[in-house]
Amino acid sequence: MQTMAIIGAQWGDEGKGKITDLLAEKSDLVIRYQGGHNAGHTIWVNGQKTVLHVIPSGVLHPHCTSVIGHGVVLEPENFLNELKKIKTVAKVTPENLKVSATATVITQYHKLLDAAREAQGPEKIGTTGKGIGPAYEDKISRRAIKVKDLLDKDSLIRRLGVGHSEKAILFKNLYQIDFPSIEEEVERLYKLGQEMKDYVCDTFSLIDESLAKGKRLLYEGAQGILLDIDYGTYPYVTSSSTTASGIFTGAGIPNHKLEEVIGVAKAYTTRVGEGPFPTELFDELGALIQTKGNEVGATTGRKRRCGWLDIPLLRYAIKSSQLTSIALTKLDILSNLPELKICYAYEVNGQKVDCAYPGINLQHAKPLFKDFTPFKDDFSESKISNDLNTYMSFIQDSLGIPVSIYAYGPDRNQVVFKKNLF
Ligand code: IMP
Repeated sequence: MQTMAIIGAQWGDEGKGKITDLLAEKSDLVIRYQGGHNAGHTIWVNGQKTVLHVIPSGVLHPHCTSVIGHGVVLEPENFLNELKKIKTVAKVTPENLKVSATATVITQYHKLLDAAREAQGPEKIGTTGKGIGPAYEDKISRRAIKVKDLLDKDSLIRRLGVGHSEKAILFKNLYQIDFPSIEEEVERLYKLGQEMKDYVCDTFSLIDESLAKGKRLLYEGAQGILLDIDYGTYPYVTSSSTTASGIFTGAGIPNHKLEEVIGVAKAYTTRVGEGPFPTELFDELGALIQTKGNEVGATTGRKRRCGWLDIPLLRYAIKSSQLTSIALTKLDILSNLPELKICYAYEVNGQKVDCAYPGINLQHAKPLFKDFTPFKDDFSESKISNDLNTYMSFIQDSLGIPVSIYAYGPDRNQVVFKKNLF
């Protein structure tokens, strides 16, 4: 197998970082293709925690080349800070970390706009406040700055000037907040560009050449399918293509197809920010899962909302990203709970619905639950209990694709591969 993708199958935070880290061991390139530093991929190695935001999880493996593709929105200051931190635990050089020259840059203006809209706008999305949405807006409206522009002051002045007068009106008249002048922002960005220039390259050609040489490529998704700008629970979504389709627009996979698309799903469901969540638990059990699972955002520190596993959502995720298998994470959190349920379908307007198609108003979807005998596994032995086997078999049978991996703890060795991958 030469090409594989790891995609969040829920609302993000499924434990993709851990799975990517494990598969990166056998990969030559690990490639991010969408999103930005709104992501928070937590990886534990020998009890030490590392959180990656925009740098691909392959960076912890010295033999891997980590690639930030052109579909990513990159905040240069955050990138350099993250790089500095990672260099204390891993050897990172311009040889093993590459940034696309055509990735979109997140500027101060984007961060200010994101914060102002969340604070003063008519509709709160609960964004991470990192400027992701406004940066993608500028990209689509052809006003964005690309990483290559950071290396050329004239381009920077010209490109920043394009949308500046409109933004100035918003900052001055609508939001009434201070904002940097073009000159200030050009100076800041140019300086950052000089610091990162050795990492910048044509990543499309790098990927193309690597495929021709038979290298193994792992595409690392950020966020989750239900947060996709087109397939997600709009408007409570992020602004990028988080489904597998984002790979084709955000990094390229020249003359090739994805051979394995692993959807990572928690054994339960979580969500941060606003938006519908049919299986959400508002009681003590939800609070218990939140505490036990340490369900706190790795990027924003916000508490995550928690609920039971939602099969109709996963069925939709499988269809919208052509997932070939599931990696089920955090099974240990469900062990020893007083009760255990899975939502196998919804009732919508008196009708039973098996798949969360976008036409369904999730706010009005009543989850139908199946009860399971709570399992009590401590995972110290390789054999799992009959109760856990029943729980996992139900998931696999309901989804129609195999559970290829399951994880029962944060560390690299707390995982079982049921399928030979790579
Ligand atoms: P934005 O991506 O900062 O614009 O936020 C839009 C929505 O996506 C909000 O509900 C965020 O909480 C959510 N979101 C963005 N990144 C992540 C992530 O990495 N994990 C979980 N939710 C995320």
